[in-house]
Amino acid sequence: MNKDAYKKIYEYHQVTKHHFNRYAASAGSMDWENQPNPFRFYEKAPIVEMPLLESDLNIDHRGLYFCENNTQDFSLISLGGFLELSLGLSAWKSFQGSQWCLRMNPSSGNLHPTEAHLIVPQLKDMEAGVYHYNPFLHALEQRAELPGALSSDIEQFFNSKGFLISLTSIYWRQSWKYGERAFRYCNHDVGYALAAIRFSANLFGWKVNYLNSLSDLSLDSILGFNKLQWSKLDKEEPDLLCWVFPKDATNVNMGLSDSIIENLKNINFQGKPNKLSKSDYCWEIIYESSDCIKKPKVAAQDYIYEKAFDNSLFSSDIKAGQLIRKRRSAQAYISEKSFIALDVFLAILEKTLPYSDRASFDLGLNEICINLAIFVHRVRELEEGLYFFIRNKKHFQDLKASFKSDFLWEQVRDNLPLYRLKKSKVTQQAADISCMQDIAGDSAFSLGMIALFDPIIRDEPYKYKNLFWESGAIGQVLYLEAESHGLRGTGIGCYFDDVMHELLGLKSSKYQSLYHFTIGSPLEDERLTTLPPYFHLKDIRK
Ligand SMILES: Cc1cc2nc3c(=O)[nH]c(=O)nc-3n(C[C@H](O)[C@H](O)[C@H](O)COP(=O)(O)O)c2cc1C
Repeated sequence: MNKDAYKKIYEYHQVTKHHFNRYAASAGSMDWENQPNPFRFYEKAPIVEMPLLESDLNIDHRGLYFCENNTQDFSLISLGGFLELSLGLSAWKSFQGSQWCLRMNPSSGNLHPTEAHLIVPQLKDMEAGVYHYNPFLHALEQRAELPGALSSDIEQFFNSKGFLISLTSIYWRQSWKYGERAFRYCNHDVGYALAAIRFSANLFGWKVNYLNSLSDLSLDSILGFNKLQWSKLDKEEPDLLCWVFPKDATNVNMGLSDSIIENLKNINFQGKPNKLSKSDYCWEIIYESSDCIKKPKVAAQDYIYEKAFDNSLFSSDIKAGQLIRKRRSAQAYISEKSFIALDVFLAILEKTLPYSDRASFDLGLNEICINLAIFVHRVRELEEGLYFFIRNKKHFQDLKASFKSDFLWEQVRDNLPLYRLKKSKVTQQAADISCMQDIAGDSAFSLGMIALFDPIIRDEPYKYKNLFWESGAIGQVLYLEAESHGLRGTGIGCYFDDVMHELLGLKSSKYQSLYHFTIGSPLEDERLTTLPPYFHLKDIRK
């Protein structure tokens, strides 16, 4: 255990809690002049334009979750489709002269701190290299060429064809609006992007392994970040690296060899990262906390979960690609229309369970740490009240002992770990806890993600980030499942942490609520005009 890192990250978490009478420190108002550019460009790096999918793949709802689809060869076309359906743009919106774009992956405040870099071995129609994915251009910016020998070493090492994809965070994009709490939001967003990658990979018949042994320092140099002159707030902080490979490949390595790391470190990089704002304001606590919990090299871990047992819960007629494209956050809910059937509610929850043969928790992220405390408002055949959904059975007894002693713990259905804790109307309570946001009470249900916290960050402080990644990955499942039932979800990063803990009777920081979410029937904002996601490319791509 690294005591200093634990202390630092524990403090960060405490300081960035919202309280009824005091929000975590932020600028307080929006400095629009200095809003960071949501797009990173590696200026002067050669650009590889990626094709957009001509039509959506004919894959149903179930195909999002199970990797049963035909494996596509790695090529410019398949990589373009994969990136489009994971991190690409989903629409432009405009209102009273201003225009902004949305993406397949959500982000707190639509600020998008997450960037992606790919290390691609030689393909038949693409040069081997290290690339940055630019979603605005739907293009790869070639930051480095990959020597032929290294390209084949990588494939040999993984025992399969494939490519590496890394996610990084630019904290300033979130701290500009959210101040000190932004480090949490950046990591939620990484989790969302990771799940978006995992789902998209399934559609191409590919799997994804998170290389969980790699150190942050190695990743920083693999991506050539140590060779760049960054201004502090423009810097991308490395988060993770994954290997994407065909679903039938076997004995795929979970780590990355020292020799490949060394060889990647020695390649030459090109392209200068763009400056994101005119002037910056540094929220030091974020950089100090991030520096303190840099991930060391660790032994590669294989996290094995059970196999999925119920395959009948994939009822949506909407194709998988459409579900991804349709995903949006609700701004408000029509409470009278937000009643849902019990089966719908259970089917949505079931998708958040981790299985080793089902996306998006099959990529080796961590031991499952998060269970769900649910405010049920409008589920037919289910009484209003507080419920609990167990994602990790090992936590069950301890949670029971840690929560209020008068909770009922009545199981709702034999084959699902959903328990009623308390019968009562909880709409106002849910909204109040979510920083007074009505979306948490006007919906069918809302929830708090209760993570096993203190023991995890005490042993391995770097896993603070993993906990938020897990919450984002759950969020992406909830967003897509809401769409599959004609509903809409919204992630809720703004909530009063300790009020939620008090409600459950938690007296220590062993368990902490890390994120909230709500699902219901949305009230559409008719004032906004919607434009296609890549209409702007017509002028850019001649
Ligand atoms: C980590 C995270 C936290 C969020 N917190 C809130 C919130 O507290 N309240 C809210 O109304 N929306 C919240 N959202 C929704 C975002 O504002 C929304 O994702 C963003 O505007 C992009 O829109 P889209 O999801 O429709 O693409 C959150 C989203 C994420 C990913």
